[in-house]
Amino acid sequence: MNSIKIPVYQPDLGGNEKRYVNECLDTAWISSRGRFVGEFEARFAERIGSAHAASVCNGTVALHLALLALGIGPGDEVIVPTLTYIASVNAIAYTGAKPVFVDSDRASWQMDVQDVERHITPRTRAIMPVHLYGQACNLPALRALADQQHLFLVEDCAEAFGTLHGARHAGTFGDISTFSFFGNKTITTGEGGMVVTDDKTLAERARHYKGQGLAAHREYWHDVIGYNYRMTNIEAAIGLAQIERADYFLAQKQRVAARYADACQDLPLEFHAEQAGTRHSHWMISALVPRPEQREPLRAALAAAGIETRPLFYPVHTMPMYAGQFRRHPVAEDLAWRGINLPSFPGLSDAQIDGIAGVMRDYFADHG
Ligand SMILES: Cc1ncc(COP(=O)(O)O)c(C=O)c1O
Repeated sequence: MNSIKIPVYQPDLGGNEKRYVNECLDTAWISSRGRFVGEFEARFAERIGSAHAASVCNGTVALHLALLALGIGPGDEVIVPTLTYIASVNAIAYTGAKPVFVDSDRASWQMDVQDVERHITPRTRAIMPVHLYGQACNLPALRALADQQHLFLVEDCAEAFGTLHGARHAGTFGDISTFSFFGNKTITTGEGGMVVTDDKTLAERARHYKGQGLAAHREYWHDVIGYNYRMTNIEAAIGLAQIERADYFLAQKQRVAARYADACQDLPLEFHAEQAGTRHSHWMISALVPRPEQREPLRAALAAAGIETRPLFYPVHTMPMYAGQFRRHPVAEDLAWRGINLPSFPGLSDAQIDGIAGVMRDYFADHG
């Protein structure tokens, strides 16, 4: 394979990141205390429109912590889309609860609300929508269903910074919601995550569990089995610098999406489309090829030109540790076998996108 000329993602750290990190080093506040942790949390909560935000060390533990705060555990079921990143499902398994898979909606690629309804049992405690690739799930319908059935809604917003339903940010419909700041996310801290909620009790429980279950008024006294899930001041320093430039990143992503749509209009690709009433934040530019057998050769043609791509996620119900519950989820499987993620970072130039489109045009001219 040729060396990579255009990666699928690369963070832009061209703001105050270095200055803030140097401040951590100069002042020796490098662990999880220091001004940046609180400032990043406050800024993030304000941006999302949540009352509380608790920073953590990655998006996977953010999900675990959210479920712990809700008291979810053995004997409980949590409904989750099979078409998601593995962490959504593993976090449910960590608690001892059972992940129950549902299929995807054909138009939005998100969890199919009717299939969610079909999978509710007396053991169901929560529904976990995952806003895949930056498109919002049908949040009003999921919120109404959860209320009607007395279930919790836990939004996995790892890929949904900047994603809106109506005027509301993803993450504000759930009882508790989570974000990831891994290096390929719209805002990054290297590794990192956030738990957000409007519920003071849930926020306090999340903070309690993330800090080793330390009791409020006595040193070295712990009243639950807690975890060390804290974010460092260095990570929060990067996060604060990133959130200062969030509007720029999101605007660049809109430009990138629009340019792909323009440059690829004559190609037989079906791009992941923004749904009515939502704002797709285009974390990843994703598209479907017409036939599953075209996907890997198309990726190989792009790789030969130095262009890195990713397949869509494999549906989690097909993986060995979860295959015990195997049944067909036809829409998720179809999307997964035909889907490709193209380079999607804010600094991707129009000329680079035109070049990527050109390689794909040549491929389809030969293999259409
Ligand atoms: C949908 C989804 N959930 C959870 C995670 C886990 O986040 P992290 O990698 O920060 O642990 C990710 C991605 O990384 C993700 O894409």
